Amino acid sequence: FDMTNKEKYRPLYHHTPAYGWMNDPNGMFYKDGVWHLYFQHNPYGSTWGNMHWGHSTSTDLVHWQYEGDALLPDAWGTVFSGSAVVDTDNTAGFGPGTIVAFYTSAKPTPWGDAQMQSIAYSTDGGKTFTKYAGNPILTSTERDFRDPKVFWYAPGKHWVMLLAVGQQMQIFSSKNLKEWKHESDFGLKQGAHGGVWECPDLVELPVEGTKEKHWVLVCNINPGGPFGGSATQYFVGTFDGKKFTNQFPTKTKWMDYGKDHYATVTFHNAPDGRCVALGWMSNWQYAAVVPTKQYRSANTIARDLTLYRQDGDLLLRNAPSKEIEAARKDAKSIKKFNVSDSYSIENLLDGNDGAYEIEMEIKSNGAQKIVFTLLNGKGESVLMYYDTAMRQFVMDRSNSGETAFSRDFPAMTAAPVGEGDDFTLRLFVDRSSIEAFGDGGKFVMTNIVFPSEPYNKMKFESVRGSFTVKKMNVYRIGAPSRP
Ligand code: FRU
Repeated sequence: FDMTNKEKYRPLYHHTPAYGWMNDPNGMFYKDGVWHLYFQHNPYGSTWGNMHWGHSTSTDLVHWQYEGDALLPDAWGTVFSGSAVVDTDNTAGFGPGTIVAFYTSAKPTPWGDAQMQSIAYSTDGGKTFTKYAGNPILTSTERDFRDPKVFWYAPGKHWVMLLAVGQQMQIFSSKNLKEWKHESDFGLKQGAHGGVWECPDLVELPVEGTKEKHWVLVCNINPGGPFGGSATQYFVGTFDGKKFTNQFPTKTKWMDYGKDHYATVTFHNAPDGRCVALGWMSNWQYAAVVPTKQYRSANTIARDLTLYRQDGDLLLRNAPSKEIEAARKDAKSIKKFNVSDSYSIENLLDGNDGAYEIEMEIKSNGAQKIVFTLLNGKGESVLMYYDTAMRQFVMDRSNSGETAFSRDFPAMTAAPVGEGDDFTLRLFVDRSSIEAFGDGGKFVMTNIVFPSEPYNKMKFESVRGSFTVKKMNVYRIGAPSRP
């Protein structure tokens, strides 16, 4: 392959495949200072097919190194999504500290796709894998039966597997990672059901400011997201090792309020008790036709998950992982300013390469709308605003650049915003994506964009009343070396 980057839309601080198509992150784990990210990869073309697990590693969650493809199709089929664990105590008998990967083997048959679960193990820390001779380990007559997520349930001293089956999640248990017992199902009359449920996860998270912990079941759904197509919902509840119970069954909770956040799952074994998530930054509505050629799709930046309480509810906070701050380069501070009509910052960065973060603290003085628009010299723009009456943050990408490749692409997305006059926002712009984190991650909105040149101007406008931008910093973010 020609691995040199020829694409102007390729992000500088987000993970992408050097070549070929990518969808879901798979088998993510952390061991000995290294973050491992596998991914649904078609090494032969830039649309979906021939699914392999590509493999990249990082020591800082920002700079990624491609390690080659780790899992290739075999007689059982192509390799769909799944997870990996470090089997420290050798419960499976492949050796202590072995990496055991779980994936769905997908085999086309004359009567439809057969999906079953398989295992592969690695004794060299995740670089190369051996397929287990006893594959497949779980079969079914269900049509959609996939995406195994495995983790250790310490109180019960056993492993747990979640599987996405149709529009439900099935929960299994095991002592040895090979034989699995079906324990329970979750999902009937719970949450959104506009499409098939995929890529589950189940994690125990601390509730901020307390000693409490609750379980969060992550459920990717496609289609049926709040703005069309793919999205991630979650449920907060209890888990006894066999059965998950949703404690807040009345409303659907979304993890991200953009159009480009899917297949999000967490790293096994993250250090310091952290729970770190990563998603696929696209949407099945148009992922195959976005205007890149040599590769398709990027991952989101890493996000640390915790729970916070609000009005008797428990909600997920997705904070940008701290590693991204270490990747900041020269900071440009913009002096405090007031906006009662409009105000422009003509030049966000000298020699703007399209990869930066904007950090802002805004105080409303009765403004009904706090509007800010990113613009480039080609008349392309991304409009964003806080609607202080509707308590919403909105992003509109309908004039963001190339949009005509899909009628589902031009879109306006909205996220709920808590009470108060103070708004903090971090915008991560990386050539062809914008991730907006409000209030330290109380809401996140991820949208991809295809501007013909970087947005380098920001125009502020006030609708009724005024607002103050108390703090504004623009950081260039370090570009990784490419293979
Ligand atoms: C989700 C998904 C998974 C499946 C994989 C195939 O995006 O449909 O359910 O395992 O992609 O590439």
